[in-house]
Amino acid sequence: MNRNDAPRNPATTAPTTFHVKSFGCQMNVYDGERMAEMLGTQGMTPAAEGTDADLVILNTCHIREKAVDKVYSDIGRLTRDDGSRPMIAVAGCVAQAEGSEIQRRARNVDIVVGPQAYHRLPDLIDKVGRGEAAVDTDMPAASKFGALPARTKQARPTAFLTIMEGCDKFCTYCVVPYTRGAEISRSWSAIVDEAKTLVDGGAREITLLGQNVNAWTGEDDKGRAQGMDGLVRELAKIPDLRRIRYTTSHPNDMSDGLIAAHGDIDKLMPFLHLPVQAGNDRILKAMNRSHSADSYLRIIERVRQARPDIAISGDFIVGFPGETDAEFEDTLRIVEQVRYAQCYSFKYSPRPGTPAADMDHQIPAAVMDERLSRLQALLNRQQAEFNAATVGRTTQILLERKGRHPGQLIGKSPWLQSVVVTAPELSIGDLVTVDIISAGPNSLAGETLRRKAA
Ligand code: SAH
Ligand code: SF4
Ligand code: F3S
Repeated sequence: MNRNDAPRNPATTAPTTFHVKSFGCQMNVYDGERMAEMLGTQGMTPAAEGTDADLVILNTCHIREKAVDKVYSDIGRLTRDDGSRPMIAVAGCVAQAEGSEIQRRARNVDIVVGPQAYHRLPDLIDKVGRGEAAVDTDMPAASKFGALPARTKQARPTAFLTIMEGCDKFCTYCVVPYTRGAEISRSWSAIVDEAKTLVDGGAREITLLGQNVNAWTGEDDKGRAQGMDGLVRELAKIPDLRRIRYTTSHPNDMSDGLIAAHGDIDKLMPFLHLPVQAGNDRILKAMNRSHSADSYLRIIERVRQARPDIAISGDFIVGFPGETDAEFEDTLRIVEQVRYAQCYSFKYSPRPGTPAADMDHQIPAAVMDERLSRLQALLNRQQAEFNAATVGRTTQILLERKGRHPGQLIGKSPWLQSVVVTAPELSIGDLVTVDIISAGPNSLAGETLRRKAA
């Protein structure tokens, strides 16, 4: 018997404790929180360690091959020393993409539940108890949000709030349109209500989430058509909400209104994650990005006109099928032109079912490695320059967590940099004014002015 076939402890068929482990993007983190809250309202309690829990939910990511491999190794590790194991649910994008195939690869998986169906987890748990198949990868017409219990108040200064789901863009390398389904915006009132609940619980910063968050559309409470900028303006009216962020945006959905909002809504933080993926127009076309290098640069220029100190972040893929050395150089060129504050960069990973996986001229791993390290060297240099340029500024940070040493607290600057302060008199959740006194590659050190800005 291999570890993936270990029997479940019969005593755990009606689980009373659970553990959720989320991989992948912030939307998965958000989904994981909603699952935990739902199980909490059912009377279940969270367990700190996976092996201690009666039910373990692996909330998975399918974006690159490595992310998927991780899930299968994690499943194997859930077997306890005595040979028993918890009830295991695979949720998230791998669940959606692979469905019941997961149970053929790892036979001790009890539940497979997709990202649009997890509101039905309690039913699926019951099904396992009855010995029935518990696979649900439906994309129901009625959104899960209507079926989930209202948010429970969390005593945390920062919170995520998914405002739209799915993606209609179909970039040729990407699984998201298949794993998350079509773009669906949540309603204005559902979002505003949820934001108020989060703020009542103590959230001072909310990050609005969506795979193409700036494609959000809806109607306000007076029936007027609204876009993301209108929604941000409404949320900015919540008095105790001090900061608003959003991620991830697509260049083509960067509306004039949203660009203008960066200039005139103080609570909207000066940070924009706007992936371009590559700097060469032939590659962008093959990726089906439907923007050019130039149109992207023009958007950045306009955003900077509206908010000169805005920090720009992005995502890059190196080694897309057919990418020549010269085409890769165009990626380095666009990075030089934009001057990023921070970025994520990846080697292209062929994903089953996506058009790019079947394209000719897949790039050898060694070439991708070399391109990635050149790109990352440049991006790291830009990040260090951006951080260094913050030294000497006086700015506000929102304290989020304790640091390593006694009295140390770590907060985020408006530009999403981590700032470490030694300030035993302050607490997590405080918004404080600090002088930035030094910068390292990944964080800054600040000195408080011994007064709370809030
Ligand atoms: N909706 C967002 C983010 C999608 S996933 C956007 O369009 O920007 C996050 C990032 O993963 C992408 O921006 C892309 O850089 C990367 N990514 C997606 N599919 C990939 C693949 N097949 N191989 C490597 N990186 C990929
Ligand atoms: Fe994927 Fe492209 Fe959609 Fe982003 S915009 S989620 S990269 S298909
Ligand atoms: Fe991964 Fe799904 Fe998010 S594939 S990046 S968890 S939408």
